[in-house]
Amino acid sequence: NEVKRIDALIAKMTIEEKAGQMSCLADSFRPFNPPNPKTGVQDKRRLGEIIRKTGVGSLFNGIGAKGAREAQDIAVRQNRLGIPILFAGDVIHGLRTIFPVPLAEAASFDPTLAERTARAAALEATAAGIHLTYAPVVDVARDQRWGRVVEGAGEDVYLGKLFAAARVKGLQGRNTRRADSLLASPKHFAAYGAVLAGLDYNNVDISDETLRETHLPPFQAAIDAGALALMSSFNEINGVPATADHALMTDLLRGEMGFRGFVCSDFSADQELVAHGFAEDDRDAARLAILAGVDMSMQSGIYLRYIPELVESGAIPMSTIDVAVRRILYVKTAAGLFDDPYRSIDEKAEAIHISSPDKIALSREAGARSIVLLRNEGDLLPLSADSQKRIALIGPFADDKDNILGPWSFYGDVKLNVDIATGLRARMAYPSQLTVERGSGIEAPIRDGIARAVEAAKEAHIVILALGEGADMSGEAESRTEIGIPPAQQALADAVAAVGRPTIVLLRHGRALALQGAISAAPAILATWFLGSQTGHAIADVLFGFVNPSAKLPVSFPWESGQEPFFYDRKSTGRPVVENASTEYRTRFRTTDNTALFPFGHGLGYSDFQLSGLKLSTEKLGWDETLEIEAAIRNTGKVAGAEVVQLYIRDRIASRTRPIRELKGVHRVELAAGDKGKVRFTLKRADLMFVGSDSKWIAEPGLFDIWVSRSSIGGLAGSFRLMAPGAV
Ligand code: IFM
Repeated sequence: NEVKRIDALIAKMTIEEKAGQMSCLADSFRPFNPPNPKTGVQDKRRLGEIIRKTGVGSLFNGIGAKGAREAQDIAVRQNRLGIPILFAGDVIHGLRTIFPVPLAEAASFDPTLAERTARAAALEATAAGIHLTYAPVVDVARDQRWGRVVEGAGEDVYLGKLFAAARVKGLQGRNTRRADSLLASPKHFAAYGAVLAGLDYNNVDISDETLRETHLPPFQAAIDAGALALMSSFNEINGVPATADHALMTDLLRGEMGFRGFVCSDFSADQELVAHGFAEDDRDAARLAILAGVDMSMQSGIYLRYIPELVESGAIPMSTIDVAVRRILYVKTAAGLFDDPYRSIDEKAEAIHISSPDKIALSREAGARSIVLLRNEGDLLPLSADSQKRIALIGPFADDKDNILGPWSFYGDVKLNVDIATGLRARMAYPSQLTVERGSGIEAPIRDGIARAVEAAKEAHIVILALGEGADMSGEAESRTEIGIPPAQQALADAVAAVGRPTIVLLRHGRALALQGAISAAPAILATWFLGSQTGHAIADVLFGFVNPSAKLPVSFPWESGQEPFFYDRKSTGRPVVENASTEYRTRFRTTDNTALFPFGHGLGYSDFQLSGLKLSTEKLGWDETLEIEAAIRNTGKVAGAEVVQLYIRDRIASRTRPIRELKGVHRVELAAGDKGKVRFTLKRADLMFVGSDSKWIAEPGLFDIWVSRSSIGGLAGSFRLMAPGAV
């Protein structure tokens, strides 16, 4: 019936109306984006006319039920076909209540947490008249110079898959027709996380094998989880811009990966085909993007403008246009918009869901679960909340409320923001024992800042340094050449540390950092990312031991910026670094071995854990059999805690060389002090596959190393052999 209804509608549509459905324009009924001078369609009156005359597929980046109702009224009541508008927006880590940035949440290594925060964000966004979010970001980020590392799940493909699926499920909920289902649009297809030198929008030059093995699997996981839309990326891959690449957008995405929803370009990515040197002009750009399989154009307006003439002249067959429109109308149907065009436009739901106490509590919980304890020498942490010891909280983020939400939080309700000082005081029995000195700006020194900070440190028993990146130092177009702490803050840290008080470093950041000097030498260091609305409370919960940290790094912290791109699942080379090597002719830099200061998967807690007794169900894994892996774990600490145990493999010899380690499983265990438990993993042939030289997934019989470990380094080691088909 639905297919018939869609076909009947398409049969009635003029080419101008089809072009309207294939266009996504900024929502000037609820303005947020600056007007695009080229199209001028940001004018509310003009946009109203377009909706009345031709209709539009989607409006994006507006918020609030009232404005959505106004625009939907025009579409449904004043346009002759009455096709509802799909309202879209960037809800990346919350709408009004802001949750930790996606990279931070990935540090929990717990996809169920991401599913919960995505669901909560969906409740707020759908209450505010948004049907679709441009999320999750499932780009695998291999270079920490890239600013958009912050938006995804980090450097690893396995973790990327887990979080992609969890976020889609959380956003969309069980039934996409329900008013509280927020359609997911995984992005940016494809390989945007592989831009050369981590420079945003830059070109991508990678092998087909790496594309398929590293960058596509999280998209596949998102599609398999039911994602109904997808965004094409800005970058080119091996000379062809993704937004004009038929082999990518159609043959691969639809033919091989089975995607059935619609593809929308990134913001003017279709028009940018001209600047890429791939299209002659805007008309040609529209033609190429449509023929590649990009169904909807975001913001450039070039589909609206050129589709009628492109079809009339025969440059694009009507059948191609109909396929695109059918996909868009299919998604609108799946979202229940034809049953109720006013779904998710509900002022009452807005009042109930937005910034509700349960969401604020979840933001705090997710914040604490995202903090990674990188170092804790001499058990400096946790601090006692009942102590009368004086604490000096020093650094530009000490009492700063402006940089806690992180990038892509422009709808965030700043009234919910809790800074670090406020969070600490709220937990302290003697809050007057906390003194606060900024000591430095984020990137520039402040007058007498260091001198005042040094005095404060001298007066204190304990120093907490709150250092790192400002919210605008990561995100779109925020690539950095150096991924360290800015020099002004480094100078502050070095001077304060020289006072000699026990020093705890709280890092604020949207990527892995290369730490230097006193910061890298501090006895206690915590990765606290951008934790969202409840930042201060989440940090206080961990510092004072109300929450025992259990997060792990989803990105490797290199020793130096120059090691980037740096990731744990790299290849060996013919001259790997080995301990006590007798020659310097090894794969290393002059100043450092190519290892990590804090490796992927690393993270401590206030308890300690011991792994023992690795058991494999067989040393010879049959082609169609399952390997069972088991190890014992004991909490050897004095308090209850959780550990994320990780399973890694290495395929020793293959027809294409394999990484030195690959994550294949995570298992979170919670244990009371002194308690023992078991961790279990399974491996099948499918988990051992890789993309062979002919771009096909293959498994090869042979020897595999295996580690059950607490990070990507060390652990309990074993091995097994994958037997050839039919071999015993
Ligand atoms: O969704 C974003 C995308 O990630 C980057 N360019 C703009 C889009 C819409 O805001």
